[in-house]
Amino acid sequence: MKIIPQPKKLEKLHGQFKIEQNDAIFCDGRFMMQAERFAAMVKRCAGITLTFTDEINAAKIIFSKDGKPEEHYLIMLSQGIATVKCGGKSGCFYAVETLRQLFCLDDEQKQLVCDDCYIEDAPKFRYRGLMLDICRHYFDLDTIKQVVELMSQVKLNKLHLHLSDDQGFRIQIDKYPLLNQIGSVRYGSQIISSDANLIDDKLVQGYLTKDDIRTLVSYAQERGIEIIPEIDLPGHFAAALAAYPQYCCTGQVAEVRRQWGTSKDILCAGSDEVYTFVCDILDEVAPLFPSQYFHLGGDEVQKDRWCNCKLCLEKMSKLQLNGFDELQTYMVEVFRKHLEQKGKTVICRNDGITQRTDKNIVMQVWKPHTAKQGAQQANDGRKVIMSPFFNMYFDYPYARIPLGKTLRYNPARGVKKDNLDNVLGVEGCLWTEYVTNRDKLFFNLLPRIDALAECGWGYRGKNFNRRLKKRFNLYNGMGLLYNGKAHVGSGRNRGIVKKFLQKDADVEVNKYLDKHR
Ligand code: ACM
Ligand code: ZN
Repeated sequence: MKIIPQPKKLEKLHGQFKIEQNDAIFCDGRFMMQAERFAAMVKRCAGITLTFTDEINAAKIIFSKDGKPEEHYLIMLSQGIATVKCGGKSGCFYAVETLRQLFCLDDEQKQLVCDDCYIEDAPKFRYRGLMLDICRHYFDLDTIKQVVELMSQVKLNKLHLHLSDDQGFRIQIDKYPLLNQIGSVRYGSQIISSDANLIDDKLVQGYLTKDDIRTLVSYAQERGIEIIPEIDLPGHFAAALAAYPQYCCTGQVAEVRRQWGTSKDILCAGSDEVYTFVCDILDEVAPLFPSQYFHLGGDEVQKDRWCNCKLCLEKMSKLQLNGFDELQTYMVEVFRKHLEQKGKTVICRNDGITQRTDKNIVMQVWKPHTAKQGAQQANDGRKVIMSPFFNMYFDYPYARIPLGKTLRYNPARGVKKDNLDNVLGVEGCLWTEYVTNRDKLFFNLLPRIDALAECGWGYRGKNFNRRLKKRFNLYNGMGLLYNGKAHVGSGRNRGIVKKFLQKDADVEVNKYLDKHR
């Protein structure tokens, strides 16, 4: 029974269950979509047709509702009957994904047989996310859909899209067309980490249209995944400011940034027009995403421009703020209130949050050595999402962030029992400065996504490496590049990390390809 993520409870029973031609399904109406999805998988994989019946006694496979929470499900294969009980539609989705793994419904098969078993399952954490940066390098709708499909198979449920940064603005905005005409186009990229002057001349361009987003949101909804948009501000905003430099303190921004790292050109916090500009953008972005959450970034803000800006200094003195961090807090509060009216809960990164930040803002913890800060905030009543660098940064080589660091991470460490509810969960972060193509994207993501799922679902099981091997069959079948060498025991490798930072950002994937292709 090789299942990822490990279910809460799994018992093997004596006997076997076999799916056969014309087996009948009885299904509670609420779960029809999932039962049909299951039947379609069975058909695709083994050519076996399942039928539907209204007679529970005539059924061999029974989908019904129990009184448990939404994400809960139970599967019992025993004495020739498959019983599936679900709390809600999400639970039923997860039950079908578990059945898919139990019966290996991704492989072509003649027989569908599984040992009898009893499974009771529900996630420990309600936020099991992945962040994808489509700014530094652009990934199109088809690639993002494939990421969504992979996430859904391991019961992850939030895809956080990083849509705006210094190096690219990646979502259609009608009111400000230059955001896309200028902000979505970059004329070159820094090649290695150690030299900001080494820049290639490749064009990097593209953005998600509103139609793309509607397609993506509905595709993700069918797979139990919520898409969370991020407009990172007031820093990490130079691509948009290259298009509309009047909203930056100096009124001048040369270009969509080609170097990595952060730009000093940030949104002016003193000009009223800046607030209108940003609210207009939020007004176009928010309605496209049904998600409860809206991410406002807030990380790594270099405040040099604010120090020398008359309007920013006036704003600070008028509001009697103590320093520029409070000015950022003020700015975020304006947008939080604006988004609150649209029913959104704002997420900010930990370095964008101060003592004065509204308690309703969710903190995403990422900075190295700030995991404790996350626990403190959770104990203090703030909701947190944990993405600590050394466990959850999937842009770095496995040689720096090995699989086991992701798998073994406990997001609730240091949080008191009464406050566990404040730990929403975990999020893996795939930044794309050095992820320039699909192969590298999937290499860095697979199999980290499996470790992330096991961590976020919350019941770390035995034999992860053995269970993982089965996932590799699936990746082979999908034709995706993955790191087949990664396993729980693999450690750090300084040599590779050094090469990655100083010479060749693709060193790890290239070494892998040399050996395995
Ligand atoms: C970050 O890595 N700048 C959140
Ligand atoms: Zn200013």
